[in-house]
Amino acid sequence: MVRLSVAVLVVLLSFNVGAKPRTTIDAVYSKQQAKSGEGLYREHCLICHDKKYFQPVLEVWSGQSVATLLQMMSATMPESDPGSLRGKEYVDILAYIFSLSKFPAGDEPLERRGGKLDELIIANP
Ligand code: HEC
Repeated sequence: MVRLSVAVLVVLLSFNVGAKPRTTIDAVYSKQQAKSGEGLYREHCLICHDKKYFQPVLEVWSGQSVATLLQMMSATMPESDPGSLRGKEYVDILAYIFSLSKFPAGDEPLERRGGKLDELIIANP
């Protein structure tokens, strides 16, 4: 009986660990990165999107991967000149967009290489 409960507990614990994805509330970008993103946003995006534009967008995108949002943004924005920024610049702007929705900053910047953004899920802001 005791042995059975231990087995059940181990299964439950491992299930729980495996089931919990990393999301944008887990301090996934750095303050400095968001600051750089703010400058780029002012220069390239503010003319069409005020700061309040992004939170509802994140709501719609919540549950999807950050990689998907980044791909869409890089391919279609700025609408006047799609894809004109460097990859890193889009990531910095995304960090700024996360900061606007009060997702917390952490020590590590958001990193687009290595496929990590495919597994990072957008939380409902
Ligand atoms: C010339 C105007 C213009 C500029 C500049 C511009 N956008 Fe957009 N953006 C639009 C339009 C138009 C849409 C689609 C209509 C809408 O949802 O408002 C849009 C939609 C978006 C969306 C939501 C798309 C979706 O499917 O949810 C995001 C995110 C976005 N833009 C980010 C950016 C970023 C980041 C920049 C700066 C690099 C930028 N935009 C610059 C016009 C612009």
